[in-house]
Amino acid sequence: MKNAVIITYGCQMNVNESAKIKKILQNMGYNITEEISEADAVFLNTCTVREGAATQIYGKLGELKAVREKRGTIIGITGCFAQEQGEDLAKKFPIIDIVMGNQNIGKIPTALEKIESGDFKHVIYTGEEDDLPPRLDADFDSKKTASIPITYGCNNFCTYCIVPYVRGRERSVPMGQILDEVKTFVEKGYKEIMLLGQNVNSYGNDLATGENFAILLEEICKIEGEFLVRFISPHPKDFADDVMDVIAKNEKIARCLHLPLQSGSTKILKLMNRKYTKEQYMELAAKIKRRVPGVSLTADIIVGFPNETEEDFLDTLDVVEKIGFESAYMFMYSPRKGTAAAIMDGQLDQEVKKERLQRLIDLQNRKSREASDTYKDKIERVLVEGPSRKNENVLTGRTSTNKVVLFAGDKELEGTFVNVKINDCKTWSLYGEIVNE
Ligand code: 5AD
Ligand code: SF4
Repeated sequence: MKNAVIITYGCQMNVNESAKIKKILQNMGYNITEEISEADAVFLNTCTVREGAATQIYGKLGELKAVREKRGTIIGITGCFAQEQGEDLAKKFPIIDIVMGNQNIGKIPTALEKIESGDFKHVIYTGEEDDLPPRLDADFDSKKTASIPITYGCNNFCTYCIVPYVRGRERSVPMGQILDEVKTFVEKGYKEIMLLGQNVNSYGNDLATGENFAILLEEICKIEGEFLVRFISPHPKDFADDVMDVIAKNEKIARCLHLPLQSGSTKILKLMNRKYTKEQYMELAAKIKRRVPGVSLTADIIVGFPNETEEDFLDTLDVVEKIGFESAYMFMYSPRKGTAAAIMDGQLDQEVKKERLQRLIDLQNRKSREASDTYKDKIERVLVEGPSRKNENVLTGRTSTNKVVLFAGDKELEGTFVNVKINDCKTWSLYGEIVNE
């Protein structure tokens, strides 16, 4: 039997697509392993959204040289970095056999056949597709969580972002197809369904059917079974009231909303082409908290965007202080070739970016700690993920707000929902005991 290794970088969309690559390879008779030294094929499913991706991938390619020399391992690069670089990547690194964008992963069998025939030096599939990528079967590594893309691509062109260039224009998946997939995954026993898109609340804008994100959520909640629905990411500019209403009245939708902020300065938001102001963002967050009691908010934040002054940065800190995100992904701005921001005047020094990032992290850590403390003595419904890494008598799970909880319990409870009383709170995890209520 032949062995294949898949290494995934980047976002949940890549995790989803890696699960599909895995299924394709298994259908071709490959055994999936993590052992590079035994691999007959290695796929790196790459990301290019921030700087650093390239260095990581080049490092990995260096590691793969030995096994390729020994076993003739086939090396494939998929994902956004592959899409961005195209044939140049294979020219630069002759050990690469296959370069393909993720809209083309359905062609993996053809690509492997071509390489195995020995007639091709390398195979490049980075053609832009107007159509949706094929719907491929997938099983996920986590037995609890399955993900479903509901839109592909993005139309927003935030000036720092490379995604619209590598993943193309926004295309919505027909609603019937999404509902069928949710049903299938729920029947298979998944307890958490994660809907994916660059801007989920513009779902349906390109469909002639009048379907939109609120309707989609409502229909998903009608599906029988005990499961939670999560989605990433909505765009603040498109967060409609009807979506808030659907969330408020459906317990099946997780009480955790990721609301990318990017910057708290209206001036910088304008330069970023985000189409909202500091005040509009704050109002939106307040409104969501009012309408969906108990919701936790999380965010993506960039520091050091071109022309960001100390005063602009203080606006970001101000929003973080006032809103109190439960957690946040925080990044230093990195220029991406081909984007508008990369050629703006006023690029900042690395040192300034680093210093601001550290101050932001310090503040956010304090806010995360404060958010954690609010769980003390509460009873939370927790989806049990399984035994914890350190102690098999301790179970780990997550609340509807996506907070990690540790508690004593039998591992038979894996994949079920239990009520846990929270006794102790640390910044990143809560500790409690199962109660029957
Ligand atoms: N520099 C830094 N962060 C970026 N992101 C996207 N592009 C860049 C960039 N050029 C961040 C944004 C986005 C997240 C996925 O990555 O915060 O929401
Ligand atoms: Fe990038 Fe903005 Fe689209 Fe998100 S909404 S993928 S940040 S362009």
